Amino acid sequence: MNNINNKKILLIICGGISAYKSLEVIRLLKKKGAIIKTILTKSAKEFVTPLSVSSLSQEKVYDDLFNAENEAEMDHISLSRWSDLILVAPTTANTISKLSVGSCDDLASTVILASNKDIFLAPAMNVRMWEHTSTKENLNKLKKYGYKIIGPDIGDMACGEFGEGKMTEPNEIIKKIETYFLNFNKNKKFKALVTAGPTYEYIDPVRFITNKSSGKQGYELAKALSIKGFETTLISGPTNLKISNDINLIQVETTEEMFKSTQNNLPVDVAIFSAAVADFKIKEKKKDKIKKKDFINLNLEKNIDILNYVSTHNSLRPKLVIGFAAETNRIEENSRKKLMEKNCDWIIANDVSNKSIGFDSDFNEVTILYKNKKIKDEKIYMKKKSEIATKIVDRIVDQLN
Ligand code: CTP
Repeated sequence: MNNINNKKILLIICGGISAYKSLEVIRLLKKKGAIIKTILTKSAKEFVTPLSVSSLSQEKVYDDLFNAENEAEMDHISLSRWSDLILVAPTTANTISKLSVGSCDDLASTVILASNKDIFLAPAMNVRMWEHTSTKENLNKLKKYGYKIIGPDIGDMACGEFGEGKMTEPNEIIKKIETYFLNFNKNKKFKALVTAGPTYEYIDPVRFITNKSSGKQGYELAKALSIKGFETTLISGPTNLKISNDINLIQVETTEEMFKSTQNNLPVDVAIFSAAVADFKIKEKKKDKIKKKDFINLNLEKNIDILNYVSTHNSLRPKLVIGFAAETNRIEENSRKKLMEKNCDWIIANDVSNKSIGFDSDFNEVTILYKNKKIKDEKIYMKKKSEIATKIVDRIVDQLN
């Protein structure tokens, strides 16, 4: 089966001698039925012409961030949203350096920074440039940010030297893209559900009890699942976060609403319960606003445990049930207890006592605890929540496949 057929690929060509090979990349992708839009950087135009690129791709070639005609037709944000994948071939040392600091002074770097898709880089440069410590450090940063690196290869270079730095051959680049879409298509048959954010429990029409959850980790998990091809539903308590349209977002306020929405969106293959659900609700919510002069005494009752309900009802139970454990002390011990009590397959232990990670932070540090004793627990040290999400989703993909 051809997994590239009809896939939308945004090819960015940077200015290096191997830019001529990117014409062959276009030809091979085209042969497989891909739809290719191309961006040429300013220096790429010294090596290949927009005319040769557009003749091969049969699509418009973009080159200038401040081109009113291009922006009117498809602005830089739409261009990055349009694609299923971005390929930068060749990627020069200069582009690697720019991306490592998030610089965006031209159309190519702006589209990359604005992208919500997986980005493949195929570096090509002289061997000394490739081996330079600054290039290595920049590249390590890019790997951490989630860029996927193809090559470079070892061999004779256009500059006459020999070593590592040659752009990977076009047919090898195509194979990598093919594998990527093969995995993507495999995951497309999977449905995922994520709960995220806090819940509100109303005392009266204007007051409620809630907690500090920002929902960031859950949103990043939903994004990572969607990028990997999962049909994803995100059931979210109130947050300030945004999510792309390819995710089915259901916004709720109370635990009861989160529970009902969860039930309505089963069955799924994997469910991740990252919401910080209010454990208690008000026994008798007041219909009218409580006045200052009123004497109030809040009577609380337990809320339903959504995770526990889903994981213990066999007819509803997803193949993979993943809970979160927000703990401030004896993190692993308490989390393992939750793993067993709530009948989860995995639990993600989260230390919420540390202010620089967890609640409301962009960073997190977690341990994945597995019910299956044969799999070793896995600590993921402090990382951006997006990177933590990618790692967790990689494990989910391995498990389901
Ligand atoms: N959870 C849920 N429904 C609830 C409470 C919790 O689905 N009513 C889920 C959370 O989304 C999380 C897991 O259960 O995946 C553990 O939540 P946590 O707040 O850490 O623990 P609690 O069960 O609330 O227990 P405790 O507050 O005593 O630590």
